[in-house]
Amino acid sequence: MRQVLGRFASGVVVVSGSGPDGPVGFTCQSFFSLSLEPPLVALAPSRSSATWPHLHRSTLFTANVLRDGQADLARSFSRTGVDKFAGVAWVPGPTGTPHLRGALAWVDCRVEQVHAGGDHHLVVGRVLQLAGEDGRPLVFYRGRFASLEG
Ligand SMILES: Cc1cc2nc3c(=O)[nH]c(=O)nc-3n(C[C@H](O)[C@H](O)[C@H](O)COP(=O)(O)O)c2cc1C
Repeated sequence: MRQVLGRFASGVVVVSGSGPDGPVGFTCQSFFSLSLEPPLVALAPSRSSATWPHLHRSTLFTANVLRDGQADLARSFSRTGVDKFAGVAWVPGPTGTPHLRGALAWVDCRVEQVHAGGDHHLVVGRVLQLAGEDGRPLVFYRGRFASLEG
């Protein structure tokens, strides 16, 4: 699965929200635009994710679309059980969820549905607000971070 499906290149988001002790988040590749009317996105957090239960409980999350040059951020948010926000620049967005400084786009969502998806959850989020900037995205391909040529 990993070897073949790693050939499907994607962008990278940090899914962030609020936990009992402050901001929480994790790096996520399985994120996509699901529906325009109503505006929905989908993502797949692992059943072993330490962050997902906090987002589920609070019902709110932000998908921060990472920019070219933010691979270090993607790596640090792929660790578990540590304070991933230490030293990270962020501001609270309109719903209070963390927006990472320098991200290419942010998508604020409310959890609408959670489906079983094997060892992952398939989460449908209702888009509440979103915005983006010019720039190049961080890309993940075959287990490595890459960038788009101009
Ligand atoms: C590029 C990249 C993409 C990832 N995509 C996902 C994903 O789609 N779903 C997921 O559950 N974990 C994904 N991960 C792994 C999580 O970021 C990692 O398991 C992290 O420790 C989870 O943190 P948590 O335990 O605080 O939730 C990805 C990691 C990287 C580096």
